[in-house]
This record gives sequence, structure tokens and C-alpha cells, in this order.
Amino acid sequence: MTPEDRSSAIPPSPAGLAPPAAAVSTAAPVVPPPSENRFYYRFTPGQRLLHATLFTTFLGLALTGLTLRFSEARWAQAFAHAVGGFGAILFFHKTMAVLLTVAFLVHLAIILRRALLKRELGLLWGPNSLVPQPKDFSDLLAHFRWFLGRGPRPRFDRFTYWEKFDYWAVFWGMAVIGISGYSMWFAPYVARIVPGSWLNVALLLHGEEALLAAWFIFSVHFFNTHLRPGSFPMDTVIFTGRLSERELAEKHPEEYARLRAAGKLEALRVAPSERWFIAVGKTIGFIAITIGFVLLVLTLFSFV
Ligand code: HEM
Repeated sequence: MTPEDRSSAIPPSPAGLAPPAAAVSTAAPVVPPPSENRFYYRFTPGQRLLHATLFTTFLGLALTGLTLRFSEARWAQAFAHAVGGFGAILFFHKTMAVLLTVAFLVHLAIILRRALLKRELGLLWGPNSLVPQPKDFSDLLAHFRWFLGRGPRPRFDRFTYWEKFDYWAVFWGMAVIGISGYSMWFAPYVARIVPGSWLNVALLLHGEEALLAAWFIFSVHFFNTHLRPGSFPMDTVIFTGRLSERELAEKHPEEYARLRAAGKLEALRVAPSERWFIAVGKTIGFIAITIGFVLLVLTLFSFV
């Protein structure tokens, strides 16, 4: 029942008389609309640091890796020349691969510790989990119906189905790209264990998966997080860790309603970020989006 429905359910009082006592006590309190100036906590400093490491190393790996892959192209040769040649490019690529691997392993260790030792089972199942839930499949269908104007917009919970997709894509991406990358790096040792032809397969897998991942991140992920209506021109939540009450109510209405109903919302209330901090976040985000977009265009043109 909306507040309007509730107030219309109160019997009208005769003109000039106070409303009946029963009517006064059942009247719904006026609920203020979600505010643009109240902020709530979404990501911990550790999660933001992990994302920062992931996105800087991924950008570096894509930039250096795609320069290796398109080494015949003039842009790749110019870039390699500017940083000291293709040998230097490979050195940077391997350095960032190690950093990304360490970040990935630390993340895995934290998740396993929380789930298995601290028994935070909500990580594995439920509305706060990144594990796909039945609701994600119905949300996906409802979202496509909404795109076609044939139904209401689904009410998303803490993580939407596409945010979960992005999260798990990194897992299988790391498996494919990591195993193939380290196989090429340590080729003489790997060739003692598996047939040498695996190294050809590894090179092919590595290059194709890299292109798929880079194109996906630089188009779909960037669009979903920064360019879609409601987030344009940039969503700063992953830098500041907080979002406004309006954003929470619009983007995650189910989580917002759940937290309010359980009386847990106010415990998440935080002060707004400093303006300089938002400006730094936006500048870094803008640089990342620009590099990604330039790489997307250059690699697409290198194909034609
Ligand atoms: C653990 C992570 C990674 C490791 C260990 C790794 C390692 C390597 C190595 C050793 C090479 C050189 C292969 C050669 O000698 O020709 C290479 C090439 C390459 N890497 Fe990675 N890499 C990793 C992650 C990534 C990521 C995340 C991307 C892009 C998003 C990427 C994109 C590429 C590309 C496009 C090439 C060139 C492949 C080709 O020539 O077709 N790599 N990588």
C-alpha cells in the first residue's frame, strides 16, 4: 500500500471537525523521498583497493598485451618505440601479470577465510551474495521485457545480474588467461610436462581471451557502470565507496527496502566524500575510460 493509498483509506471527517481518533492513529507517517544529500556505505576500503589494483593492472596488461598482439600496426610500433621497444613492453606485461595474480590470490584467500573459517554463509547464498540466485534469472527476463516496453522495471537487490556476470567473468578469464600466460612465460619447463603443441594453443587462447575481455570491459562494462542513464557521466561509487540515498533507492530498490524494513539503513549512513576526493576519482576514471576507448577503436581498426 502506498502512502497515498493509506491516506485515502481514512474515512472522511465531517467539515470543521477533527478526524476520528482511530483515523489519526492509523495514518501512515509521511515518508520523505530518497535524498540526494544522504549517503550510505556500499564498498569497504579493501574492496575498493582490490578494484583499483584490478583495473590498473588490467589496463596495463591490455595496453602492453595488445601492443604485442598487433605488433605489425603502426600505433603499436610507435607506442613500443616510445617506451623502449617490445622487450620493455613484455617486461611491463609480466610485471603487471604478477601484480594481478597476487591481487587475485589475496581476494580468493579473503573469501575462503570469511566463508569457511568465519562461516559468513551469506557470502555463498542469499541477497548479499555474488553467487547467482533464482531471482537473477527472473530479473534478466523481466529486464528484457522492460527494454521492449512490455513490463515494469525489475527491482534489483544488492548486486544486479550483470554485476554478478562481470564478477564471475574475471574468474574464468583469470583461469584461461593466467594458465596460458604462465605456460608461455615458463615454456621450457611446461614443454617437459605437456606436448609442445600446447604452447601454440596457449598463445591462441591467450590472445583471443585477451581481446574478448578487453572489448567486453571497454564497451559493455564501461557503458553499464558509467554511461547509462542514472550513472552518466561517471559513477564514483567504486572510488568513494558510498552512494546517495536516491541512487540506492533507484539502483537497488530491493536492498533499500530490505535495509529500511530491518532498521539497518541508518547504521550504513556516512558523511559525503570530500570534493577533492571525488575529483581525483573522476579524473582517474576518465583516464581509464579514455585509454580503454582508444584501445577499443585501435584494435577494431587493426582488424579491417
Ligand atoms: C596472469 C596474467 C597474465 C600472464 C602471466 C601473461 C603473460 C603473457 C606472456 C608471457 C605473453 C608473451 C607471449 C609471447 O612470448 O609471445 C603474453 C602476451 C599477451 N598477453 Fe598476457 N599475460 C597475462 C594477462 C593478460 C591480460 C589480462 C591481457 C589482456 C587483457 C593479456 C593480453 C595479452 C596479449 C594480447 C598478448 C599477445 C598475444 C599474441 O601475441 O597473440 N595478458 N602474456
